[in-house]
Amino acid sequence: MYLLDNIDKQQFIRQYWQKKPLVIKQGFDNFIDPLDENDLAGLSQEPTVDSRIVSLTANAWQVSHGPFEDVNAYCLGAWSLLVQSVDHFIPEADELMRAFDFIPHWRMDDLMVSFSNKDAGVGPHLDQYDVFIIQGKGSRRWQVGLPGDFDKINPHKDLAQISGFEPVIDQVLQPGDVIYIPANHPHNGVALEECLNYSVGFRAPSQQEMLSSLADFAIDNNLFNERYTDKELAPREFSGEIKQQEVVRFKQMLKQLLETDQFSNWTAQFLSQGGEKHEFEDQDIQNLSHQEIDDKLKAGIPFIRCPGIKAVFLEHPLYNIDNFMFYIQGEAFSVPCKDKELTLKFLHQPIFILENNQLDHCSVFFTELVTTMANLGYWYPE
Ligand code: SIN
Ligand code: CO
Repeated sequence: MYLLDNIDKQQFIRQYWQKKPLVIKQGFDNFIDPLDENDLAGLSQEPTVDSRIVSLTANAWQVSHGPFEDVNAYCLGAWSLLVQSVDHFIPEADELMRAFDFIPHWRMDDLMVSFSNKDAGVGPHLDQYDVFIIQGKGSRRWQVGLPGDFDKINPHKDLAQISGFEPVIDQVLQPGDVIYIPANHPHNGVALEECLNYSVGFRAPSQQEMLSSLADFAIDNNLFNERYTDKELAPREFSGEIKQQEVVRFKQMLKQLLETDQFSNWTAQFLSQGGEKHEFEDQDIQNLSHQEIDDKLKAGIPFIRCPGIKAVFLEHPLYNIDNFMFYIQGEAFSVPCKDKELTLKFLHQPIFILENNQLDHCSVFFTELVTTMANLGYWYPE
């Protein structure tokens, strides 16, 4: 289990989160890498995994995209192999990500892992996401600056870099050290030797993404069909003119929609879609009966949450108050409210074992829920 140390998490949120970069020396004591470069190279061969190699040879940057049949063919000069969503494939990587659970699930994106040789990096750049970067084996020099207006350069069409930032942090990270880089803070990491880095990324949705998702939700659920009315139509000299009061009425109609229960449900559904969607292989999908799951639960068999699966729910559900609703990857699930406590335990723990004193609370609905989760591949009995 990975525990983040040497940091007061509440103080971190107050003073640093989205505000200032920070180095947490020995955030992980005696850090053990959850994987090695061979695992990473193996993942980069998979067609469902998003990977790239960034290399610099004789002042020329090159970016190649996976899947890579032969990784070595692209590892020229100073190079980094970067693989996205490693938390979905390697349970220990998912465990490492969980050490950052003090930031809500819905903000979490994925765990990107990179392996670099000496002098490698992706160059100075900005990211739109907040990130904690954990130093695995090896050491790397990190420079981080403050937001500003930087010249943008594209030394390769798939590589966005910037020039000329003044670092406010310039430190060499050793295994177990962690650096927090808020969104839009310029940074540059250069490997001093072969090294592994783990980037826990946090996404924040844009207004454009919200609107696009809300429109899909409205269409899919046949919602927000109210039409504009104008019994008090204002006279005007030019029929092409749109009156200010008409613009105001449009705003009112949209504001009304924000106050509905459906809007809250859309929020939960939307925020459960953060990060890469976990794609299940056929062999992950089981067909267990309600009775089989009931027997396993009551026999104390552990149910293991598939890496990368994160459930979200509303603090104050407005709609459907008889049921506790939660969302995984954009899909809604529910149990009667009396099963909420046990369901929360099930969702929260990476390994769930029904304890003797919970047997009485294990209703047919809860067992049905576990059956659904297992048959979707989200949880599996050991
Ligand atoms: C890396 O791990 O090589 C790059 C991380 C970053 O700077 O975003
Ligand atoms: Co970055």
